[in-house]
Amino acid sequence: MMRSPELQTRRLLVTGGAGFIGSHFVEHCLEQGLVERLVVLDSLTYAADLSSLDELRINSRFRFIQGDICNQALVEGLLREEGLDGIVNLAAETHVDRSIRNADVFVRSNVLGVKSLLEAARKVWCAGSGLNHRFHQVSTDEVFGPLAPGMPLRDESQPYAPQSPYSASKAAADHLVMAWRNTYGVQASISYSSNVYGPRQHPEKLIPLAISRLLEGRPVPVYGDGQHVRSWIHVQDLCRALAQFLARRRRQPALPGGRRGVFEPAGAADALQGGRGRAHIPRAGVRCGPARA
Ligand SMILES: NC(=O)c1ccc[n+]([C@@H]2O[C@H](COP(=O)([O-])OP(=O)(O)OC[C@H]3O[C@@H](n4cnc5c(N)ncnc54)[C@H](O)[C@@H]3O)[C@@H](O)[C@H]2O)c1
Repeated sequence: MMRSPELQTRRLLVTGGAGFIGSHFVEHCLEQGLVERLVVLDSLTYAADLSSLDELRINSRFRFIQGDICNQALVEGLLREEGLDGIVNLAAETHVDRSIRNADVFVRSNVLGVKSLLEAARKVWCAGSGLNHRFHQVSTDEVFGPLAPGMPLRDESQPYAPQSPYSASKAAADHLVMAWRNTYGVQASISYSSNVYGPRQHPEKLIPLAISRLLEGRPVPVYGDGQHVRSWIHVQDLCRALAQFLARRRRQPALPGGRRGVFEPAGAADALQGGRGRAHIPRAGVRCGPARA
């Protein structure tokens, strides 16, 4: 594996570090020696798995705090107490179906939570010495709307067109990040990742759900006709890309999403049945349902 260069900020707050991507990112930064201090702040929602950080607890550079990103006083205190000069925000409510059933917690954590982090960053980093700092927001390519088959891949130059309460909350957060950068001078960047897969993903997400359903001989639920297009990136590739981006001296405002590996959910579910794991996965079929909002 190519070694990532050290990050430009050396004392990092990683929010949502007990979640799927967060736990891999924290592991990557500590194992590769990219930072001198790494503090995880996570409120431990249903989506978190604290045991994924167990092996890091003996690392003297690591600290875990259970807390909410909406608690601005807590974040400000942590930035000051630990002398932190970077925030990578991975804390969010992330499951689209849940956002359709109840958007409240999505607006709270994904929008108000980001505003709270930005305010804490502004107060601590922009008030005094103008300390070299970095705020990085992990967004999603879903803020640009769906990809149609055959459509050119999208990047951050495209207009925002969120389609679900989840992607709308992420889009709102991106706009707050841009506003705090332009208005107050918070040194901020955004990355737009495509769908992510890999070890430790919550079983409610498509790929783990499809695998477990197929292993049980049950059909895989797919929205609409399953022909809408998604692209996927492995979580370790994403964490390496993030680290490389955060190591760059010249600050670009945005890291485009990885829209490689594009395929349709119906095709993905089919591939899971017909790929190398075929011997273990019974062919149970793909069940298409109504298109989601
Ligand atoms: N997984 C994907 O396919 C994907 C794709 C693109 C972008 N993203 C983005 O990457 C980030 C991480 O995604 P993930 O899949 O690891 O999510 P996840 O749901 O696995 O983990 C989210 C973590 O955030 C924590 N959290 C939620 N609300 C919080 C709050 N108010 N305060 C503190 N902690 C809180 C949870 O406890 C959990 O540990 C999210 O911002 C998501 O929008 C994910």
